[in-house]
Amino acid sequence: MLAGGVYAALAPPAQAQDAPGFSAAALEGKALFEVGCVTCHGRNAQGVEGRGPSLVGVGSASVLFQVGTGRMPLARQEAQAWRKPPQYSDEEVRQLGQYIQELGGGPQVPEGDLTRGADLSVGGDLFRINCSQCHAFGGGGGALSSGKFAPSLYPATSQQIYAAMLSGPQNMPVFGDTQITPEQKADIIAYIQQVLQDGQDAGGFNLGRYGPSTEGVAIFLVGIVALVFASLWIAGKS
Ligand code: HEC
Ligand code: HEC
Repeated sequence: MLAGGVYAALAPPAQAQDAPGFSAAALEGKALFEVGCVTCHGRNAQGVEGRGPSLVGVGSASVLFQVGTGRMPLARQEAQAWRKPPQYSDEEVRQLGQYIQELGGGPQVPEGDLTRGADLSVGGDLFRINCSQCHAFGGGGGALSSGKFAPSLYPATSQQIYAAMLSGPQNMPVFGDTQITPEQKADIIAYIQQVLQDGQDAGGFNLGRYGPSTEGVAIFLVGIVALVFASLWIAGKS
């Protein structure tokens, strides 16, 4: 009894069960979560069988991507979630992200300018190696198997591009910081935003950005016409 009494007097008081040390922003996020997300992701984001996956450990990056691009809250179960006008303000997205972050940890998008000191030509190389097989050379997107697709990259903000690389939604692979360093991510983001989104085409007329096929047809037609005129000219001379 003596030992028990000493323990009871000295042991730290039990934490409140409901919210173990959440910050103010995370508590706001928790409140939003309980209204908009629990039906599919469960009371403590542990997931609901057949409705939505667990969000423990996905990090604020995944929330920023999913909610910031309007994919979540999901409208209906389909092969793939669509980009929609977002239902939450930037501040609310941050609060939801903070809640998921404090709940289970996971990858986070850094604060500040995400394209600082970026090198566009390195970004272009990295984009062509890592992203173009799904999102196409021009960033217009393309079809994948089983009704899925890689979407166009034109509407994405720099934070959303960063978050997509960190969280790897659906069929997209995760590009962690060991695979593509934060500096390289900055290069890729700058390339997507400044070259693809702003439509700079250093090589001239882009022919719909379909790459070798339209370019091949164009050069074939131009070349054949030039050859026909050249042979007519030679024939006329002789
Ligand atoms: C109608 C059900 C539904 C609702 C409501 C919903 N989700 Fe989801 N959520 C899903 C499903 C299903 C997936 C998996 C879909 C996918 O991978 O495209 C998912 C995936 C996610 C992911 C990605 C998880 C990962 O592995 O990276 C995040 C983050 C997320 N939801 C957050 C939210 C938040 C925050 C809300 C509330 C604002 C919300 N969801 C509301 C069904 C739902
Ligand atoms: C294996 C195919 C694949 C590769 C490689 C890939 N992605 Fe994706 N990407 C996807 C798919 C599929 C989605 C859609 C996921 C969803 O809707 O849940 C996507 C979504 C995105 C989005 C969100 C677009 C929007 O709606 O705003 C961005 C941004 C993005 N990817 C950037 C990249 C970058 C940058 C790279 C290269 C570092 C890359 N992706 C490589 C398949 C891929």
